[in-house]
Amino acid sequence: AYVIAEPCIGTKDSSCTEVCPVDCIHPTPDEPDYDAATQLFIDPDECIDCDACVEACPVDAIFAEDQVPEEWSAFAEKAVTYFAN
Ligand code: SF4
Ligand code: F3S
Repeated sequence: AYVIAEPCIGTKDSSCTEVCPVDCIHPTPDEPDYDAATQLFIDPDECIDCDACVEACPVDAIFAEDQVPEEWSAFAEKAVTYFAN
């Protein structure tokens, strides 16, 4: 699965949600908890590894799971935790 990392925090551009073919990036701007969210997350169980979201993000926050920079390695687990709730 793809992973959204630190650069999304404070940006939440949301362009990624518009290009994802399986709508697995949450919360989207039309979801109630969007304003309170610190960043968006990709549901690892739904992501089909299509790569479309990577170019859509203006701050390069999205990475293939095996290419997440070392300093942001915790973000894959954060996504798992987010969708477990
Ligand atoms: Fe959606 Fe594709 Fe990005 Fe996965 S890689 S979150 S399926 S756009
Ligand atoms: Fe965040 Fe980039 Fe999507 S800033 S909301 S990962 S387009």
